Order: sequence, then structure tokens, then C-alpha cells
Amino acid sequence: MSEINNDFIPFAKPLISEEEEQAVLRIMRSGWLTTGSETLAFEKEFSSFVSAPFAFAVNSATSGLHLALEAAGVGQGDTVITSPYTFASTAAVVHHLGAKVVFCDTEVESFNIDPQKLAEILKTTKHCKAVIPVHVGGLPCKMNEIVSLAHQYGCTVIEDAAHAFPVTYNGKYIGTIGDIGVYSFYATKTITTGEGGMVVTASEKIAKRIKTMRLHGIDRDVWNRYTSKGATWYYEVLDAGFKYNLPDILSAIGRVQLKKANDFKTQRTAIAEAYNSAFSAIKGCLLPPGNSAEDHAWHLYSLRILHEAKLSRDELIEALTNAGIGTSVHFIPLHLMPFYAKTYHYKPDDFPNAVKHFNSVVSLPIWHGMNNNQVHRIIETIQTLLQ
Ligand SMILES: Cc1ncc(COP(=O)(O)O)c(C=O)c1O
Repeated sequence: MSEINNDFIPFAKPLISEEEEQAVLRIMRSGWLTTGSETLAFEKEFSSFVSAPFAFAVNSATSGLHLALEAAGVGQGDTVITSPYTFASTAAVVHHLGAKVVFCDTEVESFNIDPQKLAEILKTTKHCKAVIPVHVGGLPCKMNEIVSLAHQYGCTVIEDAAHAFPVTYNGKYIGTIGDIGVYSFYATKTITTGEGGMVVTASEKIAKRIKTMRLHGIDRDVWNRYTSKGATWYYEVLDAGFKYNLPDILSAIGRVQLKKANDFKTQRTAIAEAYNSAFSAIKGCLLPPGNSAEDHAWHLYSLRILHEAKLSRDELIEALTNAGIGTSVHFIPLHLMPFYAKTYHYKPDDFPNAVKHFNSVVSLPIWHGMNNNQVHRIIETIQTLLQ
């Protein structure tokens, strides 16, 4: 039987306090558990936080990306460009709509889509309806170039901001720079509702479509049907919609977490700065991309382990596991996955930068709530292993 290490530092851990517990209890005792006034309040507070005219709470970022693409008019015969350096959801939702994915490699220096390569791909891609930049780990993509290129070709820009809340880019929140932005509140994310997400947009047309398709294609809120004074039993189904709403129990957690989002970010930034200053002295380690620790949401701290390092990336992960430190790898590029390799006949070296990043990267624990002892133990363990 393997020994249980009580000092184990998990790769990720949510920070939930009595305030979130009380908020959930309040909803459980209110008589209304599913989407209602609490979710409306969460949407209002979130839209004001990021300064987006419209915000819709959804039950995951995956649902949010699906709704965003649908609202952008993506369908059979269309193509959507994104990077292979992402999670399964970003590309899977394109397939759900009968469209095709075209991958575009990342930059050499970062895990984000390369605008120069995007320009080349846009020139030759037929029926391209949307571009999905993914802000990997919380580092903003080069949005000015991406938006201007995509709009030149009539494409909607849908930001996959699953990792990127809260962080600004040229004074605007990531998620509000493209046409639609999608955030994730999954258990490991920078604020969490367990499962959940938010879709934001400034377009009234897109907002109307997302609102309708989020809940069965019905033209009015179910909540209004049952609670408003003038409510009637009548409703109309305008399209074959989805069931992607966020219940009030989860929105209650989200409202409390939202209030703490900036404080959480400050804590993660301090951990990133401590890691950066310790690891910059180690030969064979490349720090996470980005110019300044401030310009990053720090959902992930992804260290790159180069060939000249004392241990390989895989050996380091094994040694850290043995030392009671959880890690992960972000990402295994999607073109290496059986489904995409088979469907599109992609070969590993079609996206060399993505593969190079994947082979070198290890994500270290970086969660708000980690204490100084834990941070120092991780730093000292890595120094001992690699120096
Ligand atoms: C880049 C990216 N996009 C989208 C998602 C999907 O998020 P969710 O789990 O909220 O559906 C994830 C999940 O981790 C992700 O990493």
C-alpha cells in the first residue's frame, strides 16, 4: 500500500470560505434553486466588472463557446481557426455545429496563437466564419493584430478566456476585446462556481441569440414565467435551443468569488514573482512567457524545461510527485489527439511550436490560498533537483 503524504501540495485547489457556504445556504432556503434573480445579479455584477454591455451565465465555458459560435452563425460548411495548443472544448464545439477546425500554430516565444501565421492561414482558408484566440494560462494573445486580421476577412473573434480572468490588455479586460468572450468557472479556475462560465458581448444581436439559445430556444426567461406578477403560461420556442443555464446555487458562489477576484489575482501574481525570481537562475529553465507579471491572470505557471537541464521534463514531474508536489501539463496539442489526427490527417510536425512547447512544459501549483511554506517548498525542491 502506498503511503499517504499529508503534506501533499495539490496542483490546484479552490479557496472557498464560509461566505460562499452561507450564500449557497441562503439560496437553498429561498425556495428557488435554478436560474433566477441570483444569476441575474451575478450577470449584472460580472458585466460591470469587465465593462461588457451583455453577460450571460452558462453552465460551462464549453457551453459558452458553443453558444458563441452558434450566435456567430457558424454552421455546416464553415471553418473556424484556432490554435491546437488548447483544451478539447475549444475545437469540439466547432464540430458540434458541423463546421471544420483549421489549426494555426503558436508563437515561438509564447503558447498563444501566432498572428503572422494567422494572416497566412486566413489568406487560404475558405468560408472562415470565426477565429478563436485562446489566452493560454492567462497571458493575453496579441489581440490588436488578431482582431484587425479577423475582421478584415469578415470573421467573428471569439475569445477563449477560460484561463484569463481577470486581466487587462491595453486597458480593456480580456474577453471584451473580440466580438464575444467566454470565461470558465470550472473548479480549478481563477474564480470558481464548481462548474460554470460567462459569455460577454457588446453586440445586441449576438446577445439576443445567446440568451434565446441558452435556454431551449425559448423567447422568455423560465424564471419570469413562474414569478413575475404579469406572468402567463405562454411561451414560444423559436429554435432548437440548448440547456446551458447556470443555476442560482452556483451563481451565489460566483458572486462571492467575483468580489475576491482581484485579491486572488494579487496572491497568484506574488507566487509567480517568487517562482520567476528563483527559477531565472536555473540553467535549462525557461520562465513562462510574458513581459511583466502584472499583465497575466496566472491561472497557470508553466515552466519550460530545456534539453540542457539536469532532468528531463518527465523526470522532473516524477521527482516532484515523489516529493509530494502535484503538477500538470498544458497542453497536449489537439492535432496529436487521435480524433483530430484521423479527421484532418494532421502530422505531429504540422505545428512545430505547439509540439515544442508541449514537450518542455510543466505547470506548477499556483493557487490563491497557497501559503509561503508551500511556495518555498516547491522552489527549494526544484532548485535541488535542477541546480
Ligand atoms: C482553454 C480552455 N477553454 C475552454 C475550457 C472549457 O472550460 P469548462 O470546463 O468551463 O467547460 C477549458 C477547460 O479547462 C480550457 O482550458
